[in-house]
Amino acid sequence: MHIQNQISLKPYNTFGIDVIAKHYVSVTTTEDLRAVYNLEGYPNKFILGGGSNMLLTQDIDALVIHLNLKGKQILETQDQHVLVECQAGENWHEFVQWTLDQDYGGLENLSLIPGNVGTSPIQNIGAYGVELKDSLVSCNAFNITTKKVEVFTNAECQFGYRNSIFKNEVKGQYIIVSVVFKLTTRNHLLRTGYGAISAELERMNVEQPTIQTISEAVIAIRKSKLPDPKDIGNSGSFFKNPIISKAQFKNLQSHFPDVPFYKVSETDIKVPAGWLIEKAGFKGKTFGNYGVHKKQALVLVNYGGASGKEILKLSELIQQTVYRIFEIHIEAEVNII
Ligand code: EPU
Repeated sequence: MHIQNQISLKPYNTFGIDVIAKHYVSVTTTEDLRAVYNLEGYPNKFILGGGSNMLLTQDIDALVIHLNLKGKQILETQDQHVLVECQAGENWHEFVQWTLDQDYGGLENLSLIPGNVGTSPIQNIGAYGVELKDSLVSCNAFNITTKKVEVFTNAECQFGYRNSIFKNEVKGQYIIVSVVFKLTTRNHLLRTGYGAISAELERMNVEQPTIQTISEAVIAIRKSKLPDPKDIGNSGSFFKNPIISKAQFKNLQSHFPDVPFYKVSETDIKVPAGWLIEKAGFKGKTFGNYGVHKKQALVLVNYGGASGKEILKLSELIQQTVYRIFEIHIEAEVNII
């Protein structure tokens, strides 16, 4: 365990924002993590996973603990399922590709999502009709007060749309060190219902989809819409899709008949924030070295050298403009630090 001082976090956040950590340590085991929490002289700590869901707006006056726990293991093989435990510091997409190489089904629709396995339950990552909660059995979480690892079952995680107990009740009290998934080994459930997937499979001339070809289709769709953080700094969807009441939606639809929507329940409707932002005129707009992605308005981008404060200001301008036009508040999905 090696503590470094004054380290730039630019390589460790997908927005590519250059802020300085007062202290930095990379941990590779739960024992290391415990040892860090037993250290004297570092009262402020900051947990860093894959850095894919945060906007850093200032230097971090703390010990940044970079979670680099690696490894995956098959815990149990059942008739049609397998239980796999994956450590928090594994890259999400590489893990998904590994499951597909083993012909394990369940995560294919979640291909190419940036970030690490350990942060995936915090916001219950989701895409193309599937959410993490659909295959998560449990997660093992380090309690920073007792310094013991506790198990959170799927139900205990209290998953919701881009939400979990780790963003609410127990926020800041636990560090997820590994996640256990239940994946299919045969009779895979193929989820091609999301419009863009079936269209892409058709384009690929796939008549009988497999979990692998679904993954390929998802990768192609994501690549066509979402910028690769290796090329352009970004954090995926910057905002959540707002959920509004049916009455409010009817009113919106009467003014904007082409508004896309998804029914969430009998009373609630989800409206794509990307559409609202595009209608508000921000899609593809650049402001110096940052802006709004030209192919998906939900994604804010750093073309290189922008500060977190600049991007935060842009996000506030977007929120205010969307509110002025539609009277809908769009909430940031990324964590603003
Ligand atoms: N739309 C626009 N303009 C835009 C973007 C979208 O009009 O610039 C419209 C589209 O035409 C479509 C609708 O909005 O009618 C929905 O667009 P899309 O299918 O691209 O999905 P999304 O709702 O914008 C969500 C997730 C994404 C996920 C996709 C696919 C959230 C906040 N975002 O985006 O997740 O990949 O669905 O399932 O729920 C992420 O969280 O980082 C992320 C990329």
